Amino acid sequence: MPQPRILSGIQTTGTMHLGNYLGAIRNWVELQAEYDCFLFMADLHAITVPQDPKTLAENTLRLAATYIACGIDPDQSTIFVQSQLPEHSELAWLFNCITPINWLERMIQFKEKALKQGENVSVGLMDYPVLQAADILLYEPDLVPVGEDQKQHLELTRDIAGRLNHQFGKKKKPVLKVPEPLIRETGARVMSLTDGTKKMSKSDPSDQSRIDLTDTPQAITKKIKRAKTDLERGLEFDNPERPECNNLLGLYQLLSGQTKAAVAAECKDMGWGQFKPLLAETTVEALRPIQAKYTELMDDRTYLLSVLADGKAQAQAIATPTLNKVKTAMGFTLSA
Ligand code: TYM
Repeated sequence: MPQPRILSGIQTTGTMHLGNYLGAIRNWVELQAEYDCFLFMADLHAITVPQDPKTLAENTLRLAATYIACGIDPDQSTIFVQSQLPEHSELAWLFNCITPINWLERMIQFKEKALKQGENVSVGLMDYPVLQAADILLYEPDLVPVGEDQKQHLELTRDIAGRLNHQFGKKKKPVLKVPEPLIRETGARVMSLTDGTKKMSKSDPSDQSRIDLTDTPQAITKKIKRAKTDLERGLEFDNPERPECNNLLGLYQLLSGQTKAAVAAECKDMGWGQFKPLLAETTVEALRPIQAKYTELMDDRTYLLSVLADGKAQAQAIATPTLNKVKTAMGFTLSA
């Protein structure tokens, strides 16, 4: 029996933060023994906002090193670069022609990002979820593990697959498999350190709002020390009046590897002065081995490039036949 398949990716926009790690990569690491994992660097998605050509490729390599440093094993999982497989862009075009524009106008991330960019919104920014649907459906995965913020994009992916199957599939034989999202309860929404009601995000202008995986112990300690809190004594989960408290306790739970009940019991009588150094130390220790491995990998570019070359070949072996299947179903059947 072949293993069930997983597909997921992260944009190559700068350094990764704790939200990317706890909401996505950490889950992939746990799943890779049981699933056939396809994990990629979404560099074509990165250019939906302006990127410096001098750093684009370097950011891709850094993200590959981050995946491996966090525990993705290239012998078990396929790690590849989105732009190295033209199948992604080609399938996106085919999907463009069956996707109603109003499906894209509804996307929350588009509305938020478009608002920030004012006059300069590109067609690519709006079309982004269609490319994401192509990324996913090319590999016909069973599950797509992501954080909560990607839920709407996955619903769109399912809608596009459904429409394609309806328009071009045979009654009992759909063209493409429709995947399920996998969104864990813990870690699915890591919040900003400066506002517990906003998600931790690469695009937040304040560096204080997030902990990057490459932050030094001093920077981590300082950011946690300055993190927004409240005046209550005693720490608790799930109080809607205390979003920062819930977020920081959640981080402690995930990074210390304890259960929610154990953390609730340990912290219920603590004040912030006692809890913050504990969280800082736990974060520094959790990231220490990742950072050491990351530095080692970035010093061995030959190895990283060989992982990506292998990944490309493995990914293409799945992506090309899927693309051809869609093209045939849509009528691109001329041959010599
Ligand atoms: P991106 O690059 O914004 O984020 C990558 C992954 O990290 C998760 N994430 C979070 N999880 C919890 N809390 C947070 N604060 C947080 N911030 C980010 C995201 O949910 C995601 O799982 N469109 C995608 C990239 C993409 C993709 C795909 C993902 C392109 N094609 C196909 C899956 C499948 C994105 O921008 O993620």
